[in-house]
Amino acid sequence: MTTQKLIVGNWKMNGSLSFLKENLSYWQTQKIFHQIVICPPFPLLPFAKEHLNSPFISLGAQDCHNKVSGAFTGDISASILYEVGCQYVLIGHSERRQYHNETNELIKEKGETAIANHLIPIICIGENLQEREQGKTLSILSNQVTTSIPSKGSNFCVAYEPVWAIGTGKTASLNDITKAHSALRQQLGQNIKLLYGGSVTIDNYLEILSLDNVDGVLIGGASLKKDDFSRMICNEPANSTR
Ligand code: 13P
Repeated sequence: MTTQKLIVGNWKMNGSLSFLKENLSYWQTQKIFHQIVICPPFPLLPFAKEHLNSPFISLGAQDCHNKVSGAFTGDISASILYEVGCQYVLIGHSERRQYHNETNELIKEKGETAIANHLIPIICIGENLQEREQGKTLSILSNQVTTSIPSKGSNFCVAYEPVWAIGTGKTASLNDITKAHSALRQQLGQNIKLLYGGSVTIDNYLEILSLDNVDGVLIGGASLKKDDFSRMICNEPANSTR
């Protein structure tokens, strides 16, 4: 039984070099309990790598291309992310699916390319509000898992992020999270880390982390609140069965 969880901060297109510096120097003074991944915007990654010296904090990118290299202006390859110090990469976040038309098929390729280049992809899945209201949550998740997780390699995580809960202040209920994660556990097996994301805050993260089959959380807005995030990464949650 372990209570150490994976806490991932997705800064999205936020933060700055000075915000990164401020956080890094603060975290180095703290006793961190969990395993942390921070995903700042791409240009901040090399600086973060150079100045990080905590065994508890790793770096993640917010996306990578499905091809190893090539004429893809503006895109980022998994191999360069690895070279500049990333260990993780978010793949298929709902904002990529929505604003960049990413399909399950593309997401699957990206995950496989990430694994082939020594990164651990965190594959994001989740139903939208209409699907939820139609009672389709579990079938949508099952389909997304079948079609978007890598078929080559098993070193990846899956993040359940209900689209309607992202940045809205509406968190899925503990019961909803339990049901979704239990179905994902059955489909994916014991070895895949399952994260929950969607309006996770300083007020609800301990309850969420205490649920069965929740191995961590993926945090957007609250990862940009220095004091809140710092408290979250240092606190030990109540015992859980995983
Ligand atoms: P919020 O925590 O702001 O809802 O964002 C969740 C998210 O999208 C993390 O990837």
